[in-house]
Amino acid sequence: MELNSENVARLLYPVAAFESPPTISVDASYKAGIAQLKPKNLTHTTTWEASILNPKNRIDSLAWPSNAKWRVDGSTGMGTQFYTVPIFLRHPIPMRIDTFIPERKEIPPTLQAVLDIGSAFYTRDVRVAQLGIARYIVRVLDRWSGQISDFAAFYTNLPFGSRIVFHNIEADIRSVRIQILHTHFLERQLLSVGSLQAMWKLPSDSWPAVTDISKVTLVQQLHDSVSLVKYAGQTRIMKSLTSSPKYLYHELRVLLTMSPHPNIISKPSHLIVKQCNFGSKIAVVGFILDYHSGGTLRDVLPLRRTLGTHSLRLQDQVVWSTQLTEALIHIRDEGVMYCDLRLDNIVLGSKSDRIVMIDFEGRGVGTFMSAPEITFIEHIHSLARESEENVGQVELNRYKRLRDGYMRGCSMPTPTEMYRNPRHGYCVSWLCLSEKEREAAQVYMLGKVLWGIFEGVGSPEKGVMVEHLREDALEYPEWRNAPEIIRELVNACCSCGRRYEKFPLVRKGQLLCMRNTDATETAEQVRAAAIGWWKAEVHEAEEFLKQRTADASRVEHVFSARPRLEDVLFVLRSFNKSIGV
Ligand SMILES: Nc1ncnc2c1ncn2[C@@H]1O[C@H](COP(=O)(O)OP(=O)(O)O)[C@@H](O)[C@H]1O
Ligand SMILES: [Mg+2]
Repeated sequence: MELNSENVARLLYPVAAFESPPTISVDASYKAGIAQLKPKNLTHTTTWEASILNPKNRIDSLAWPSNAKWRVDGSTGMGTQFYTVPIFLRHPIPMRIDTFIPERKEIPPTLQAVLDIGSAFYTRDVRVAQLGIARYIVRVLDRWSGQISDFAAFYTNLPFGSRIVFHNIEADIRSVRIQILHTHFLERQLLSVGSLQAMWKLPSDSWPAVTDISKVTLVQQLHDSVSLVKYAGQTRIMKSLTSSPKYLYHELRVLLTMSPHPNIISKPSHLIVKQCNFGSKIAVVGFILDYHSGGTLRDVLPLRRTLGTHSLRLQDQVVWSTQLTEALIHIRDEGVMYCDLRLDNIVLGSKSDRIVMIDFEGRGVGTFMSAPEITFIEHIHSLARESEENVGQVELNRYKRLRDGYMRGCSMPTPTEMYRNPRHGYCVSWLCLSEKEREAAQVYMLGKVLWGIFEGVGSPEKGVMVEHLREDALEYPEWRNAPEIIRELVNACCSCGRRYEKFPLVRKGQLLCMRNTDATETAEQVRAAAIGWWKAEVHEAEEFLKQRTADASRVEHVFSARPRLEDVLFVLRSFNKSIGV
């Protein structure tokens, strides 16, 4: 089955439980599957009108223009949003002005292959620059920016996070209609230094210096929210968000108020501000952090494992695990709710091999990492937000009642809501939990991170949506290298009173397929597998929430068998001693 945004929306979320089950016979479904695997409009490609040989359908060139004025650093949004950097500006500033292209279904089928649109869906890092679509975007932007007099002034005067939108993709790049979307909606949600100070009332000596964005030079856009920058002659990180800045302000407050720890990212040194176009507001658009160049554990672990045993040493694995557990205890004791524990939210220091925890936005992590009690709540939230058309009126009301009964006063954040200084941020599935439940949910995630550290794998499951640099065949809860005592510890951390059932679909190249097959299954079989899995998952989620709403002690068995953070630390320290670290 083709991996595209429609199939993702239909099969990767709980609403899939409401898809009508496949009814066609295996034979017919086989043909349907094969048809799905063929490029769209295949019959039409035989006509001259749509033929790739027809000059009208051929892109004149996809070579990098000599002296290209733009660069593509990565992408997000299922291959529709590209981090485009105007390298011809002497000091490109981190304005976060990305280029947006239409979804795959809007791109002429004759151009999809040559532009690598299928791979762009799941490629997010620097490898995007090698795809046809990146070269295409650079050619279009080169031409477009060359037509704007004083482009530097035009660009820097745009609202932060504005968008360059391509309305169409055509073989002839001169036919691309480009529009600039001014993000005044984002400007409205941005806050000034004064408004943040008024809310937080921090002592003036804990407040970072304030600097204008024009003083910061972009080196590379590493990630949607993270720019590698030069500031005052040093290489630093600038964190910013182009949507929902409430998460950025939450992270900023946590980092400014939490006492320091050697394994937690230090307080931001500067706040980055920019004058808004509307009104006279000078808004905080980001902040500056230390750059830890050792890489994330997600990337470092598989790299070191493949380099051999001398690179990924047992003593490093134990030390990192101990440092992480100590940092988590510190965070808990500081009264901070940390729900973002994942291997890509742990980086290694530049000079030493010490781990540093990052990412305090408090959004929560995906199903691969989260404890089942968290994913159950999230499934019901997701269904309660669905349309009546998708799940039916009776069911929708039932999910809303379940959610409201469970949330008991916590409110769901809306995408455009203003930041209002919530103590624990916005992750509703965590906000509903008691302190004890939160620690148990965190210990579950810690268990999965320990699994990754000791197996040298960057993620407990391979994602469907993103292809990481080094992926491994091994997935949680399979074992290869970890010592027995660590296996027992991880099993205890991840205990939840149910069998671990992986999502049945995986990505194979550009296709959405079933696990453990040779990708010859039909589209209907793929659909059936996902629907069946979601039906069981949603049923379990519903039962869990009903029981917990009636009486929290009835679901305690789900997490009460997990150790506390101190217990994990004790085991790790004893293991440390036993191996003589
Ligand atoms: N201080 C830092 N030093 C080095 N890399 C960082 C730093 N902060 C973030 N990164 C990189 O950027 C990625 C995204 O940063 P993160 O703070 O986790 O943002 P998000 O909330 O968008 O996930 C990280 O996974 C890491 O690769
Ligand atoms: Mg992160």
